[in-house]
Amino acid sequence: MTVDRGEDLTARSSWTGKAAFVLAAAASAVGLGNIWRFPYLAAKYGGGTFLLVYVLLLFTFGVSLLLLETALGRKTGKSAIAAFKAYGKKYAFIGVLASAVPFIITCYYCVIGGWVTKYAATYLSGGGHILAADAAGAFISFITSPVESFAWAFLFVGCVVLIVALGVEKGIEKSNLVMMPLLVVIAIGIAIFSIMQPGANEGALYYLVPDLSKISPELLIAALGQLFYSMSLAMGIMITYGSYAKKNSSLTSSTVQIAGFDFGISFFAGLMIIPAAFAGLGGGDAIAAKAGPSLMFITLPEVFDKMGSFGGIIGALFFVLVFFAALTSAISLTETLVSIICDATGCKRKKAIISVIIYFAITVTLVNLGYNKLGFIQPLGEGTSLLDFFDFLSNTVMMPIVAILTCVFVGWVIKPKEIIDEVRISSKFRLAGAWSVMIKYVCPILIAVILISYTAAQFGVITI
Ligand code: TRP
Repeated sequence: MTVDRGEDLTARSSWTGKAAFVLAAAASAVGLGNIWRFPYLAAKYGGGTFLLVYVLLLFTFGVSLLLLETALGRKTGKSAIAAFKAYGKKYAFIGVLASAVPFIITCYYCVIGGWVTKYAATYLSGGGHILAADAAGAFISFITSPVESFAWAFLFVGCVVLIVALGVEKGIEKSNLVMMPLLVVIAIGIAIFSIMQPGANEGALYYLVPDLSKISPELLIAALGQLFYSMSLAMGIMITYGSYAKKNSSLTSSTVQIAGFDFGISFFAGLMIIPAAFAGLGGGDAIAAKAGPSLMFITLPEVFDKMGSFGGIIGALFFVLVFFAALTSAISLTETLVSIICDATGCKRKKAIISVIIYFAITVTLVNLGYNKLGFIQPLGEGTSLLDFFDFLSNTVMMPIVAILTCVFVGWVIKPKEIIDEVRISSKFRLAGAWSVMIKYVCPILIAVILISYTAAQFGVITI
């Protein structure tokens, strides 16, 4: 099949080399998903069971899909919508669907970004122990506050938009180089402290030892959704990143490295939070009952408080680093929105940025209102919020559908060889045969089965 490479190929910027590509993709991947989302999902879905399922899915599905997306991007030299369109107008809708996902994610990402900003600022100004005195109460009264929560969310949005408007990409890449390793070191340090707490052993076991009887469609769909989210898959991002990759950068080793890095951060985040939560709450069921988006903002301040005089400093360091991880991911999400708007409407960057600002003003307000004035809207049942709903919609519904469509498109429409040839430009790709089977059969069928059984269970058609 021939690909319409368009006129703009020579103008396309590219990463300086393989390391820059891996770093940029890892920086997009590592974010709130790893530190905020992964630990609470693992806590909720049986600890070790979730961890095991996640690792298995990551190194089969995750890496296969990442390879597919980056190779498709590099082959076509285009971002999502145009990449699919290069094979025929009728396929553009897959790119359109994928592009809708980051629009949904950003509106709640910035709300959590606001929480992180507030916590970082509080710890930096020495107020950590005040937060910890009544961690749950402080957190809930903050997120439901009518003014303060909005102020922090918009402060975060302001930082993101300002940097995107300035376009200081180089600055961000350089700061990633410092921030990412620091994040790893701090995560490992806090994790070690956390497992040394009295009562934490049991929690560490809960997190590390799987109990296969706990596997359920909910767990599978949650692990799959988390995988897509954390790796920034099924939303066109990695297609765009691949389009900047050089023809001599090995895609096979890059994708394994990106996946390994992303998983490493998630793993330590879980080790940091779950044993500590276990020690504090006294059992798996107790954390499972409490596990939710707030785990990081309630449990960790309590852990830091127990560290004595060090606690304030570690807490400050931790939340500042989470702030940077969130900021870099939010910037890359916003940059994606800007480029989608520019590509789709042909408008200038400035206009696209203004549209994104208006979009943020409306959606971030809406999601934040979900914790006070609009708190009566509980779309997913008792006690759930608009934030939970948007997270569910993007990660649990849309991303699996986009992933199935992408697999069917490559496996059955353009055929795997198209991608294999691209990958082979820069690496041997001995597993090409297995990869084809994954993309043609295993991925789409398994994702479909998980999605259907999950939906059926939701509507009470089957009980598990
Ligand atoms: N992967 C990011 C995280 O773990 C979140 C994310 C999803 C993202 N899609 C993205 C970041 C696109 C940057 C670009 O937090």
